[in-house]
Amino acid sequence: MLVEKNVPLQPYNSFHIVAKAQTLVRIQSEPDLHALMADPQWAASDKFVLGGGSNLVLTGDVRPLVLKVELMGRRLVQATEKAFIVEAGAGENWHDFVAWTIDQGYFGLENLALIPGTAGGAPVQNIGAYGVELQDRFESLDAIDLRTGHEFALDAAQCGFGYRDSVFKHAPHLAGKAPVGQPGTEPRAFGLAGRALITRVRLCLPKAWKATLGYADLDKKMQQTGMTAPTPRQIFDWVCEIRRAKLPDPAVLGNAGSFFKNPTVSPEQCSDIIAREPKIVHYRLDNGSVKLAAGWLIEACGWKGKSVGQAAVYEKQALVLVNRRTDAQGATGGEVMLLAKAIQTSVYERFGILLEPEPVVL
Ligand code: EPU
Repeated sequence: MLVEKNVPLQPYNSFHIVAKAQTLVRIQSEPDLHALMADPQWAASDKFVLGGGSNLVLTGDVRPLVLKVELMGRRLVQATEKAFIVEAGAGENWHDFVAWTIDQGYFGLENLALIPGTAGGAPVQNIGAYGVELQDRFESLDAIDLRTGHEFALDAAQCGFGYRDSVFKHAPHLAGKAPVGQPGTEPRAFGLAGRALITRVRLCLPKAWKATLGYADLDKKMQQTGMTAPTPRQIFDWVCEIRRAKLPDPAVLGNAGSFFKNPTVSPEQCSDIIAREPKIVHYRLDNGSVKLAAGWLIEACGWKGKSVGQAAVYEKQALVLVNRRTDAQGATGGEVMLLAKAIQTSVYERFGILLEPEPVVL
């Protein structure tokens, strides 16, 4: 186990923000992690788990010990009568994993193509796109409790998935009462933010594959091509094309995908807003509430293309904040957050809606 000091984090965050990890350990195997947890020097120290860094804003150097997850491997765990259960090491690149499943003939992840980040980050954020969320295909995951070193597994219910949300994003309010995953405990009762390192993720991909269509951008592709029954690979290709056209490539223009969540409002609140803003883009949800397009709200407030220092609102999608430079003179985390706060304020003043940021701010 190699402990590295003063490690530049710019290559490890998709915003390309300049910052350093005071101390960083690459977790390349589970024995690496057990050795770390058994070492009194590191066992009790604060830790920060770094996956693909694709949902992260760094506002300074990172003091907690950075655990960079590089656990690899992908495999078919089981083929049941109804489904393929496939597994990815947490450090696997998510998109490469999706492409691999399609190559193997395991379908169901095609709508989630080209999402930046790692397989281990996918459940934290409950990634979603084009009508599919990770929770729709999730089987279970393995993780290690960073306080005790114990391994545990969680199923979908225990992960507490919500829209871009999971148990891994909530503070461990009840921490200390009982170790996670031990008999007789209820992991759902615990927030696991900062407490767990996900090692492996398993997905359940039904053998009876059915396309998930109905999303406007995919409908457009069907109309343009005249294909009414696209294959999984066709949908994979379309999703890649749509994302490449709409979203900036983090390798070229630093970003963390959508910077804010799409807000949900009550039908009453929505009719009030629609009465004032008839063109507002909104979707009715099954539970009666209404989801508003945050990108539309931000664009309506005139933010497209605006900037603070080198942090800017992407010209083609106002929900995405970008770093205009990928070198050392690029945006700081402070500039990104200043821009984000100014956007929040103006959307709140005009619509009475407080936008909630998606990325982790460190
Ligand atoms: N819109 C505008 N102006 C903008 C941006 C969007 O008017 O500047 C309107 C669009 O015209 C469209 C609506 O807002 O009618 C929705 O836009 P889009 O289809 O681009 O999707 P989104 O709601 O902005 C969400 C996810 C994306 C995901 C896409 C596709 C969130 C926060 N974002 O974006 O996820 O790829 O749908 O499913 O839910 C991410 O989380 O990082 C991410 C990229």
